[in-house]
Amino acid sequence: MRVLIKPDYDSCAKWVAEYIVYKIHQARPTADKPFVLGLPTGSSPLGVYQELIKQNKEGRVSFEHVVTFNMDEYIGLPPDDPQSYCHFMWENFFNHINIQKKNVHMLDGMTKDYAAECQRYEDEIKEVGGVNLFLCGIGTDGHIAFNEPASSFASRTRIKLLKPETIKANSRFFGGDKGLVPEKVLTVGIGTIMDADEIILIASGKNKQEAIRQTIECGVNHLCPASILQMHQHAIVICDDFAADKLHPDTIKYFKNIERAKMVAK
Ligand code: GLP
Repeated sequence: MRVLIKPDYDSCAKWVAEYIVYKIHQARPTADKPFVLGLPTGSSPLGVYQELIKQNKEGRVSFEHVVTFNMDEYIGLPPDDPQSYCHFMWENFFNHINIQKKNVHMLDGMTKDYAAECQRYEDEIKEVGGVNLFLCGIGTDGHIAFNEPASSFASRTRIKLLKPETIKANSRFFGGDKGLVPEKVLTVGIGTIMDADEIILIASGKNKQEAIRQTIECGVNHLCPASILQMHQHAIVICDDFAADKLHPDTIKYFKNIERAKMVAK
C-alpha cells in the first residue's frame, strides 16, 4: 500500500485528479477498450471532480472513452431526487465533462428486484473488462462505499442496512434530519472494489483520523473495512495532515521517505 500525506485537502484532490488524468492518457482508451473508473460520492471526492472538470474544459483530458461505475445508491430515492447519489454525480461531475451518458453506470435505488439489479451491475463491470481504477472515500468508522464494519471482505454488490452512526453522519446532506436518510442501500461489495486494478482512497480532516490509523497501522480487520486495502497490490491512500495526525511518527517517516526517494529517482 502506498501512502501519501499532503498538507491539505486541496493538494490531495489535485494529486488524485492528476493521477487519474495520467492513467487515462496512459491507457489510450477507445470505444472498444475504454478506461473504467469506479467512483464515490460524499465530500471527499468533490475537489477531485472539480479539478477533473477544469482539466476537461482546458482540453487536457477527454472522458469520451471513459466508463464509470458508482459505488452505491440509496434505496427508495429516484435518480432525480436531490439527495440521490445519481443526482449528486450528474450535478457535481458528469454534467460538466464530455462523458457519454451510456458510459455512466449507477445502481438503481428504485428497483423492485435488488438481487437482479446487483447482479446486473456485477455483470456490466465484468463485460467491460473490470474496473481499472476505483476511487474511494472513507467513513469515520472505516467503511468504504456502504460496506459497514463487519461486512465480508468477499462481498459483492448487494443490499445493505446502514448503521445508525452512518445515517447520522449522512444526515448532513438531508438538512440534518436523520429520519429522511434511507436505511437501506445498494452498494458494491468489498470484493468488487478489491477486483479493481488499482484503488485510491482519499481522506481528509480530523474526523477521519481514527479510520486512517486503523486502515494503515492496524491489522487487516473486517471491523475496519478499508484495512483490506493492505492486501491490494496497487492501493494508494492519500490523506491530509489532519487525517494522518493519529499515525505514529515512525509510520509517517516511513511513507514520507519512500515518496522522497521516488522524487530523487526521477
Ligand atoms: C458515505 C458514502 C461513502 C463515503 C462516505 C464518507 O457513507 N457511501 O462512499 O466514502 O460517506 O463521505 P465523506 O467523503 O463525505 O466524508
